[in-house]
Amino acid sequence: MRLRKKPWIEQAILEHSDLVILDDLTTHKGNWQKLFPTSQPLCLEIGTGRGSFIVGMAQKYPERNFIGIEANLDVLYDVVKKVRALQLPNIRLIRDNAISLTEWFAPAEIETLYLNFSDPWPKNRHAKRRLTHNNFLKMYQQILKSGNSVHFKTDNDQLFAFTLEELATHNYQIKQYTTDLYNSSIPNSVATEYEQKFVALGKNINYCEFTLSI
Ligand SMILES: C[S@@+](CC[C@H](N)C(=O)[O-])C[C@H]1O[C@@H](n2cnc3c(N)ncnc32)[C@H](O)[C@@H]1O
Repeated sequence: MRLRKKPWIEQAILEHSDLVILDDLTTHKGNWQKLFPTSQPLCLEIGTGRGSFIVGMAQKYPERNFIGIEANLDVLYDVVKKVRALQLPNIRLIRDNAISLTEWFAPAEIETLYLNFSDPWPKNRHAKRRLTHNNFLKMYQQILKSGNSVHFKTDNDQLFAFTLEELATHNYQIKQYTTDLYNSSIPNSVATEYEQKFVALGKNINYCEFTLSI
C-alpha cells in the first residue's frame, strides 16, 4: 500500500485516543473487554487497511467486539473516520506492527482472527514477515481460544500456497478452503477494499479457515 505523507495525522490521532489505543498495549493484556461498553466475544483483524472489512463486520455483528491492528497510520486514520461517522461502539484500533501479539493479548483472549489480503512479501528472505509464517501461527495459537478459527483471504496464489504448506508442515487443521471463493459454496463475510478491487479484475480469491489447536 502506497504511503502518503501526512504529518498532521500524528497530532489528529491524539483526539481519538478512546478509539485508537495509544498507551502501552501490554497494560491491556487480559483486559481488552474493559475498553468496550459491552463485554462480548472479541475478534481481531490484522492489517485492517482502510477498514471496509472491520467496519462492515462490526455493523453486521453488533454482538461482537472487534480490534483492528494496522501498521500504517495514514491508512488507519481512514478507519477512524469511518468508525466515527457510523458511531460504532464495538471497534477499537491499534496502530502498530503485529509482532508482539502475545505481549498484548492474554492466552485465549481472542475468539476469532481475520487476515485479509495480507502483504505477500514475495522474497524468501522476507518470509518471516508473512502473517501466515509459522512464527505468527504460533502466536495466534496462544491468543486464540482453543479450537477457534483463523479466517484468511488472499488474491495472492503464492502466499496461499505458502500458507497451506505452513499449516500442513506444522500439523494445524484446515477446516475449509477454496482457491475460488466467489465460485464456491463457502459463504463470504464482508468484502475488503483489496477484495473488491481484485474481484472486479476477475482475479480468483483464495480462502481458508484453519484452527491451530493440535
Ligand atoms: C495489502 S493491504 C490489505 C488491506 C485490507 N486488509 C484489505 O484487504 O483491503 C495490507 C495491510 O496490512 C498492513 N500490515 C501488513 N503487515 C502488518 C503487520 N505486521 N502489522 C500490522 N499491519 C500490517 C499494511 O500496512 C496494509 O495496510
